Amino acid sequence: MLVLGIESSCDETAAALVEDGRRLVANAVASQVPIHARYGGVVPELASRAHIVDIVPVVQRCLDEAGLGLAEIDAIAVTAGPGLVGSLLVGTEFAKSLASVLEIPLVGVNHIEGHLMAPFLDYDGPERISGTPDFPFLGLVVSGGHSHLFHARGVGDYELVGATRDDAAGEAYDKVAKMIGLPYPGGLYIDRAAKSGNPTAIRFPRALPQKDSYEFSFSGLKTSVLNHVRKNGTPPHDSAEFADLCASFQEAVVDVLVTKTFRKARELGVQHVVISGGVSANSRLRERALQVASSNGVSVHIPPIALCTDNAAMIASLGWHYLADKPRRFDAWALNARSSMKMGPPAS
Ligand SMILES: Nc1ncnc2c1ncn2[C@@H]1O[C@H](COP(=O)(O)OP(=O)(O)OP(=O)(O)O)[C@@H](O)[C@H]1O
Ligand SMILES: [Mg+2]
Repeated sequence: MLVLGIESSCDETAAALVEDGRRLVANAVASQVPIHARYGGVVPELASRAHIVDIVPVVQRCLDEAGLGLAEIDAIAVTAGPGLVGSLLVGTEFAKSLASVLEIPLVGVNHIEGHLMAPFLDYDGPERISGTPDFPFLGLVVSGGHSHLFHARGVGDYELVGATRDDAAGEAYDKVAKMIGLPYPGGLYIDRAAKSGNPTAIRFPRALPQKDSYEFSFSGLKTSVLNHVRKNGTPPHDSAEFADLCASFQEAVVDVLVTKTFRKARELGVQHVVISGGVSANSRLRERALQVASSNGVSVHIPPIALCTDNAAMIASLGWHYLADKPRRFDAWALNARSSMKMGPPAS
């Protein structure tokens, strides 16, 4: 079954073709970074407008890359939530129209569940870590809007075992980057600058260190960085002090994510750990996760970089599971964009 995935929950318009939930046939993404960069964050109204402009060309680019036409698509999966409502509506309305015209099934899926399932795609893009996981696994989704730990027992069967009380990890990266004069989105720029820095130069706080706590909190860390730069100033971007600042902030984020994730994996007795979402592209998080995984005798699975940040391949793959599981015709017109969408099989 060839599924067209559509993703438009935030600031990427994406389309992908995935066969039988696993094989990535084509993957196209139009990023809106140049539109939002000057504001230092996503402007929802501009995002919706850019999705309207990009959605048809992106789907066409995806079909061209695959050398296929619309008639070859068997079903459509679209992100129905969570996300910016105006952005989601562009994807869901487009998907409904296309499914209706082509008379093929349509399924709306959860974006975060898509991130969680991304390592199941057979796509050996650069820097994929450890192939496909097995259930049960512990999944850490770290992105622009989420820092969530899930105990995943099967497709659609997840228990939330930890989450952030305030900022998501990616949000903390982006806000700190803005504070110290780096471009948006800041995660990648902090990651790059940190490479030559000393992660122990400044001891930033690790929140909620109690052994039985699986919650995260990054707002105190953000304030500590702010206090540090208010007191000492922001060092020049090409200085060793700047690299140390970035590396020390990054270490505080990564330390907490890795410590809590692998401690919970041990507690639950799971053999597989999944790390996904935009922040899973981070080089230090990958390095530390690999080290801790090997010393704990568990395997860690992280998607290739292209499938860490927002993409439609993970949406098509997840949608296939629900379409293949319960073959039925979805009522294209009953699908809603939901900013607080629950995970799991579609209700209809
Ligand atoms: N190398 C990196 N290191 C750290 N953070 C990174 C890196 N690359 C990307 N990010 C961060 O990933 C985030 C974007 O991830 P993603 O696209 O999954 O988020 P989102 O879709 O906006 O949020 P959500 O998935 O929670 O709805 C940004 O905060 C960005 O700074
Ligand atoms: Mg995302």
